[in-house]
Amino acid sequence: MRDLMKLKVFTAMLICALVLAGCSTATGETNVSKEDEQNEVQPIAIQGAMDVEISALLEEMKDYKEEQHGNYTFYIGKIAGTPVVVSRTEVGMVHAAASTTVLIEKYNPKAIINQGTAGGHDPDLHVFDTVIGTEVMNIGNMRTEHLDEGQGMKPDEWLFMSTDMREDGEEVEYETFESDPELVKIALSVADQYKYGEVVEGKVGSADFWNREIDRIQWFHENAGTSVEEMEAASVAQVAKGFNVPYLSVRTVSNSEVSNDNIEDLETAGQYGAEYAVEIVKAMSK
Ligand code: 5AD
Repeated sequence: MRDLMKLKVFTAMLICALVLAGCSTATGETNVSKEDEQNEVQPIAIQGAMDVEISALLEEMKDYKEEQHGNYTFYIGKIAGTPVVVSRTEVGMVHAAASTTVLIEKYNPKAIINQGTAGGHDPDLHVFDTVIGTEVMNIGNMRTEHLDEGQGMKPDEWLFMSTDMREDGEEVEYETFESDPELVKIALSVADQYKYGEVVEGKVGSADFWNREIDRIQWFHENAGTSVEEMEAASVAQVAKGFNVPYLSVRTVSNSEVSNDNIEDLETAGQYGAEYAVEIVKAMSK
């Protein structure tokens, strides 16, 4: 009888030991230490919409834990010793907003870097130049004046609308959202590390749209002051603002109808932009 009891206690202890060993292997798969998790060190979040925009970040992390929430994938690890969450937002404004909300709720990042590729609006920008988006604007947020039936469509007379945010119960109107000035400073401080083109400050225009009409591109450049266009930055900035999380927009030009480069290379631009994002994270960690 006593032997049976001993055996039961031994088996229970063995099961406990195996469960604990299992747990430590699970966390051992990533280089996020138990200490970081316990101290709740806030990670830096780095987003890219497509695999080509995050693969250089994953390479830099080496070990990471992958987590899926709904449609969205998050990679938890470290870059240069700093806890990071790399997030694949998927393409477009709705995906970017949804995945940013999940990112903030699940990972409580201390800053969000939204980076990736973009199309040039400024004729002085060349493919592989990188824009630090000091301002980002939702250039799909537009209204028209009334026209009667048969009067046609006049896209060059469409008007931009602002975005209302609720701050301390009051509605505040935003024409554009700004990247955090401190993060802009840090990004500029490592601009000399970027060897593939110029790094400039500029305005990033976002919409669920890919424009190849030169007149339309010029119209945005002149009327909205956009340097580049892409499909996520303004939506991420809006959500980040809503949760008061510092935000930075960084975009590498992958194509341009107005620069005579005749290159469309999202893969290379995605790689170059992500490499620059690594330098920014390293500078933020100092
Ligand atoms: N217009 C719109 N989006 C672009 N992207 C790169 N170039 C452009 C462009 N000219 C980016 C978007 C999106 C993906 C299709 O590529 O941000 O994530």
